[in-house]
Amino acid sequence: MRALIFLAGCLLSASVWAQSTPQASAAQERLKALGADPVALRAAIDAGKKATFFCANCHGEDGISKTPDVPNLAGQNPAYLLEQIRKFSVGERKDPFMQGLIKVLKDEERIQVAHYYASVKVPPSVADNSLVPHGKELFTKLCVRCHGEQARGNELFPRLAGQKVPYLKTSITRYRDMTGVRNNQLMSIATAPLKNEDITAIANYLTQMR
Ligand code: HEC
Ligand code: HEC
Repeated sequence: MRALIFLAGCLLSASVWAQSTPQASAAQERLKALGADPVALRAAIDAGKKATFFCANCHGEDGISKTPDVPNLAGQNPAYLLEQIRKFSVGERKDPFMQGLIKVLKDEERIQVAHYYASVKVPPSVADNSLVPHGKELFTKLCVRCHGEQARGNELFPRLAGQKVPYLKTSITRYRDMTGVRNNQLMSIATAPLKNEDITAIANYLTQMR
């Protein structure tokens, strides 16, 4: 009996995992192949920069946002960027601007844009330093196992280091409250124990990281 419950538990967490992390797809394979070929990658980055001329209105020059509610895209993992572009385009992630705007990008441009933003370095932002120690404690306990000690992410989990405080707070709160704007079961589970002031502390810790 116990073995059976254990097995059911494993199957459940495997399915949560599969639904919650970027799916293998032709586009993700193509992204990876380009990333492994330095000459092709260079060409993709240059084409991506051209395709982002109007993204800069909101996301800032080179994906370094000057608007608090708009995320930096610079330095983000390309697989994560491509996955979020897909989610907006099919309405799995909701934002009135992004869902419409993303339709102008062709399939290949989505991949190029992801490589371009990933290639730019993102600077850390200023934090309320009095909140940083509490934020660090919570992040180490609840978040490091996926996002990593340095919060720089990888192809399964986004970079959080240097991200804007208001954007971080909004995003974390949306996962916790399961309002349907952003759906991710791993994130809803991880953020369930957080109070609002915990979220503010974590956001301040993350924004000053590089
Ligand atoms: C009118 C302003 C605006 C423009 C123009 C815009 N975006 Fe966005 N973008 C946003 C906002 C706001 C968000 C955050 C939405 C949220 O709160 O979930 C966002 C989020 C994103 C995200 C998710 C980032 C993350 O960390 O999860 C990606 C990727 C993205 N935009 C790509 C683009 C690309 C590529 C373009 C150009 C084709 C573009 N955006 C143009 C406003 C804009
Ligand atoms: C079990 C793995 C896991 C844990 C633990 C986890 N995360 Fe995440 N996190 C993810 C995944 C997967 C995503 C991408 C979800 C998506 O596509 O919307 C994500 C996305 C995010 C985002 C959105 C980033 C962006 O650019 O929009 C933030 C912010 C975030 N996590 C913060 C946290 C914090 C804070 C904690 C700890 C309280 C945490 N995460 C714990 C897996 C995890």
